[in-house]
Amino acid sequence: MSEAIVDGVRSVLAGRHVVVVGGTSGIGLAVARNVVRSGAEVTLVGRDGDRLRRAADEIGGARQCIGDLHDSAAFPGVFGSLPDIDHLVVTAGTASLKTLRESTAEDLRSTVEERLVGPLSIVRAALDRLRPTGSIVLTSGLLAERPTQRGAILAGAVAAVEAIVRSLALELAPIRVNAVSPGLVDTPLLDSFFGEAKHEALASAAAALPTRRIGRPDDIAQAVGLLLSSGFMTGEVVHVDGGGRLI
Ligand SMILES: NC(=O)c1ccc[n+]([C@@H]2O[C@H](COP(=O)([O-])OP(=O)(O)OC[C@H]3O[C@@H](n4cnc5c(N)ncnc54)[C@H](OP(=O)(O)O)[C@@H]3O)[C@@H](O)[C@H]2O)c1
Repeated sequence: MSEAIVDGVRSVLAGRHVVVVGGTSGIGLAVARNVVRSGAEVTLVGRDGDRLRRAADEIGGARQCIGDLHDSAAFPGVFGSLPDIDHLVVTAGTASLKTLRESTAEDLRSTVEERLVGPLSIVRAALDRLRPTGSIVLTSGLLAERPTQRGAILAGAVAAVEAIVRSLALELAPIRVNAVSPGLVDTPLLDSFFGEAKHEALASAAAALPTRRIGRPDDIAQAVGLLLSSGFMTGEVVHVDGGGRLI
């Protein structure tokens, strides 16, 4: 990002309170690090106290809250203890790419819970704390537009996230609501996804992309910084995929 844009993001985020659900790893951790660098105060939400502490130490300090996308009923308690929120970023999620034949009914329900019910419950729980000048950023993904032969339920769920931000941008106005849609980004998520084949899989994916590299967490964090700071963007999905939708 150019220095002018970085300075713009900094000036808008300085002193703001940003909650990052999924801030213990990968993209969410990069978002948290970036907003702390911009002078914002950060609250990290994740499932595990040790991982939260490690992430908070890594970014130089953050408030920490336990929360699980599969336990929506607990979110009002999480947000009840927080000061007013300027921005809510939800990056939390996993990625299971089963075929429909391999998927149990529970797998299908679990994906919908993690990608839709959980994030929407978080937004609902945060509403009383969100300042009207603030914003929400949800996470979709390249699968919404570039399906593969696996993961139909995940593709549907992330596509639904994109419809949801357009709808909530109207319902929750003047709070702005946007989404970021990452392509392939090198995070711990991919370690578990590709296992030992990761290096080879990423090299071949990178060679096929117009950018000739796959994403870094910071690429997505920069786009999130723009969405948080740009007061005229709402109902938008920003694709940060190295051109993955074009090939
Ligand atoms: N990396 C990619 O290539 C890629 C591509 C497209 C979309 N995405 C999406 O981008 C988001 C971030 O992915 P990432 O690559 O940064 O993954 P990551 O490094 O594995 O981080 C995932 C984060 O989500 C949190 N999380 C997972 N399940 C949760 C749950 N049930 N409740 C609360 N928190 C939960 C984890 O927190 P704890 O484990 O500490 O609780 C962690 O902070 C995900 O939604 C992913 O699907 C990633």
